[in-house]
Parts: sequence; C-alpha cells; structure tokens
Amino acid sequence: MSGRYCVIGNPIAHSKSPQIHASYAAQTGQDIDYERCLAPLDGFEATVRGLIAQGYRGANVTVPFKLDAARLATRLAPRAQAAGAVNTLIFADGEIVGDNTDGPGLVADIVRNAGVPLVDKRILLLGAGGAARGALLPLLEQGPREIVIANRTLATAERLVADFAAHAGRLAVSSFDGVQGSFDVVINATSASLGADLPPVPASVFGPGTLALDMMYASEPTVFMAFASRHGAAVRDGLGMLVEQAAEAFFLWRGVRPATAGVLVAMRQAQA
Ligand code: ATR
Repeated sequence: MSGRYCVIGNPIAHSKSPQIHASYAAQTGQDIDYERCLAPLDGFEATVRGLIAQGYRGANVTVPFKLDAARLATRLAPRAQAAGAVNTLIFADGEIVGDNTDGPGLVADIVRNAGVPLVDKRILLLGAGGAARGALLPLLEQGPREIVIANRTLATAERLVADFAAHAGRLAVSSFDGVQGSFDVVINATSASLGADLPPVPASVFGPGTLALDMMYASEPTVFMAFASRHGAAVRDGLGMLVEQAAEAFFLWRGVRPATAGVLVAMRQAQA
C-alpha cells in the first residue's frame, strides 16, 4: 500500500529526513513519498489538518512543533506521554496518534551502533528541556545504575525528576559545575552546541571508557565533542540518533524495520 508522509518544521529546508526515508523505502520495497513541509509558526494545526485532508498517512514533527503535536494528538503512545512531546504522527481511522521515537533512536544508537550497553551504567544527561525529557524513559528502561541530570536552570531539572517519581531512586539532579565523579556515558541534550557553547561540566566527568554523545550534528565536531575528546572520551554526534529515530518512525508507519547501518555510513560520507 502506498503512502504519503512528510516532516513538518520551521525552518525545514535543512532536514535530512527525506533522504533517510527514501533510502529506507528503496531498501524495503515500500512505496512511499516523503517530503519536507514548512508550517507557519502559528499554523501547525491547520497544516496537519490539510495533510490529513490530502490523504497523508503520517508525519514527522521537528522544531518548534513537538509540543504542539503532543497537544493535537487524539491519542498518545506511553513514551510520547512520558516525553510530553511528539516527533511522529500517524493518521489512521480518524485518529491522530502521537508517538516519540527520539529517545528510542538515541538508545539504539548508543547500544547497537556504538556497542555500549547501558545496564548498570552511570549516565550524565546534560539539559532538562524537551530533548532530555524525551530521552529519559527510554534510557531508564535500559536499567542504568544512575542517571544524573545536570542543567543550567536547576529548577527545570528538579521538575523533570519530579515527573519521573517512580524512578526517583535512580535519578539525581546537579548543577553543571557540581557534577561529581566520572560517567560511562555523557549525553549533551542541551541546545548549547547550536550557539557553539559548552555546558561547563568538570573535565573529570570523562574517563578513558566514557562515551560522550552530542544530540546535535554538524560537518565539524561540536565544541562539546571536542572538549570530551580532549579529555579521553570516545565521541559521537547526533547523526546516528537521527537515522535511528527515522527507522523507528518508518516501522510505526509501515510495519517493516529497515536496516540502518548502511544509511548511517552513506549520510556520514555525504557530510564529509
Ligand atoms: P530542546 O527541545 O532542544 O531540549 P528546550 O526545551 O528549549 O529545547 O531546552 C533547551 C535545553 O538546553 C535546556 O536544558 C537549556 O537550559 P535551561 O533549562 O537552563 O534553559 C539548555 N541550554 C540552552 N542553551 C544553553 C547554553 N548555552 N548552555 C547550557 N545549557 C543550555
């Protein structure tokens, strides 16, 4: 069965999602169209209604509409509910189902692509905004020993932990400069890299066995990646997470799970 999909954002011209989904469609033999959709900043809902009227079967949602998408959905998957944000919409039987594949994409990139299991590990999560919130439940489901959430605004991190009270025993909050000890995995979920800024964590959070992952990606390593690398960590950008969240969305829409490794290599080469 064919289907039309798109990624809705503002701006959207830079999005790599059409390329990724075209690769998945070719690989799995699925007959889909996937394009970019620029929505006016005050026109997300009207855009979605228009897509549904045109027979679209789903959409990805990116900045700045992930919270609007959660509000518009008539039903939320548990992980989207926990994230308070939606990056994948499914239009079926008059419903708008909202899901969130960002966190699962992050976990798949760390566990499968980087080969770092998270069971019993110490994780440092930098940031407490939408991106960090989306990552928290999928990370907790991997059974880490502890997740320390460090944020510039402490109150935001405290609110985030309060929303995950069932997991309170494994969650702690810290300021950036108050983070103690070293970590197996350090994830930068702040938007600091966008402005070439660095969350001011002590270099001692990184050790020789640390994996440091920045959710951002660019052709050059981010300042966070450069800092982590200088202090002995193995580093990754957010391209693997992007490719993995797309695979999970493709699976939700089409019921077929595409292989991601070749697509990640091709994207990396195109970036170089
Ligand atoms: P996103 O959806 O990308 O997470 P967001 O919800 O606006 O966007 O959250 C941005 C996150 O990056 C927040 O944790 C923010 O910290 P505050 O809660 O203190 O605002 C963090 N952030 C943004 N710019 C930063 C910077 N220059 N240094 C450190 N943290 C920053």
